Amino acid sequence: MSGLPIPNIPLNNGVEIPQLGFGTYKVPKDEATTLVARALEIGYRQVDTAQMYRNERAVGQGIAASGVPRAEVFLTTKLNNAFHRHGDALAAFDRSLTELGTDYVDLFLIHWPLPAIDLYPEAWGALEEIYASGRARAIGVSNFQPNHLARIIETGTVIPAVNQIEVHPYMTQADVRVVNAAHGIVTQAWSPLGRAAVLDDAVICGIAARYGVTPAQAVLRWHIQRGDVIIPKSSSPARLAQNADLFGFELTDDDMAAITVLNQNRRRGSHPDDENRLDR
Ligand code: A2P
Repeated sequence: MSGLPIPNIPLNNGVEIPQLGFGTYKVPKDEATTLVARALEIGYRQVDTAQMYRNERAVGQGIAASGVPRAEVFLTTKLNNAFHRHGDALAAFDRSLTELGTDYVDLFLIHWPLPAIDLYPEAWGALEEIYASGRARAIGVSNFQPNHLARIIETGTVIPAVNQIEVHPYMTQADVRVVNAAHGIVTQAWSPLGRAAVLDDAVICGIAARYGVTPAQAVLRWHIQRGDVIIPKSSSPARLAQNADLFGFELTDDDMAAITVLNQNRRRGSHPDDENRLDR
């Protein structure tokens, strides 16, 4: 593979996160151990899971099986929606550590704000307590709109290190990225390939062909040059390797702009204001 190692991005507390990670959303637990181990062998050093994905145990086993020291892996998990009450969040975090087979995570996120339930400031208080205990090296949020961020910044004492949101060429998230940046919050892009929806786009295919890369690599490189952290998912070892081979070419400003203008504000997942499910 050309161009490794993967660069690190500093979070607002000085902890560094690899700019590329392996996202395990929809990776079934019977595949997660093998795929996580494979990703780490390829050179990935960031793994993203969540209580909601129900694969934390398998992800932890994959890290152990890889032989890569735990300290060299940046591991993220997320609080499930049913556990925004303070005590529930603390207990759920303890269960995550047990499942993952570790005594700390690198990043712990609130998975969804659930504004209709309106307990996310309470959940944030629990994450602050976990952070103070040293069992999460950084804490952040996921799927937070600017008003949700403003609320926890006002009521809390720790500014989130990361806001993990849906970002891809059809959902470029200009507004949320600006607000994140204004607070020193790193934008982490979930579904950076738009769940593969952007890969047939004629503009993207044309750009990819000119660089001799795949459409997926062109899109992932666009994210990298925007400075976001990405966590593409793949269940194929060959595509895992392809998705990490991003550091041997550079898109021109014109090609960056040509991809950015493809925005359609088209989500693949829920709008954060509409997501109220507790039982995912
Ligand atoms: P697969 O798991 O079969 O590789 P996102 O991370 O944006 O949600 O996208 C994930 C989707 O994109 C999955 O369907 C995955 O399929 C597909 N995918 C991931 N990497 C590539 C790639 N390099 N080329 C084509 N499809 C890919």
